[in-house]
Amino acid sequence: MTDLYEQLQESIRYIRSRSSDRPKVGVILGTGWQEFTKQLSPSTTIRYRDIPHLLPQHRKKENGALITGKLGEMPLACLNERFHLYQGLSARDVAHPVRVLCHLGIKTLFVTNAAGGIKRGFKKGDLMLITDHINMTMQSPATGVEDDRIGDQFTDMTRAYDPVLIKMATNAAKALRMKVKKGVYLGVCGPSFETPAEIAMFGKMGADAVGMSTVTDVIAARQMGVRVCGLSCITNKAAGLGPQKLTEEEVHVVMNEVQTGAFQLLREMIISSTDVFD
Ligand code: HPA
Repeated sequence: MTDLYEQLQESIRYIRSRSSDRPKVGVILGTGWQEFTKQLSPSTTIRYRDIPHLLPQHRKKENGALITGKLGEMPLACLNERFHLYQGLSARDVAHPVRVLCHLGIKTLFVTNAAGGIKRGFKKGDLMLITDHINMTMQSPATGVEDDRIGDQFTDMTRAYDPVLIKMATNAAKALRMKVKKGVYLGVCGPSFETPAEIAMFGKMGADAVGMSTVTDVIAARQMGVRVCGLSCITNKAAGLGPQKLTEEEVHVVMNEVQTGAFQLLREMIISSTDVFD
């Protein structure tokens, strides 16, 4: 296997040849969050397929892009699509774009996703700040990566979702007079949705929401010492808790409906994070 660190360096060299931006913040846009890119003042858009090692060989047709630019005064780099384990990729492949962001020098990573609500009272359209996660994918991007330049293989995952950023995001929501929930995100591989029995079990395990992403990205970012803040949009009640059948279309329909508020909050969170750490 080619050395991961060398691959990352090649990815970075290419990006730097296209852009001299020095992003401080990284953003990963999950399902339904793509239109957030319209909020950015982009300086460079680099297609994933042009960045060495970003895409696994068999996915060269991917349309995603790394966008560098600014949100307000904040220099950032944004991944407008993420990879998922359900695409048949390894955790290492899924995490590669996140690792690229971290090696570009970001200090803070904002992750977004769509999720099913498990906690009683969570309803579609709610926004949830992630306080912690449960990794039920049973896979880790750190598996087999024994290289201090990538970080500690035995990464500490206490406070993986930065308490200072959670506080800042709570204040940002207050300033916007928006309600935001808090909870534990449980990550599964998918792509089938969960059974009602699985959701009942996840609830007992302490999960408030469930989705098919994020945990892999967050492990990779924490391994490299980057602070993380996570925001989920609850697009449906999880299996067995609502009346309806679950469909991917519904996830997109709800995301479209709540976009304005969700984007406002994410924008405010990113901009406010300057005050917290500078
Ligand atoms: N389960 C898993 N992933 C999801 C869901 C869900 O109910 N809703 C949105 N993403």
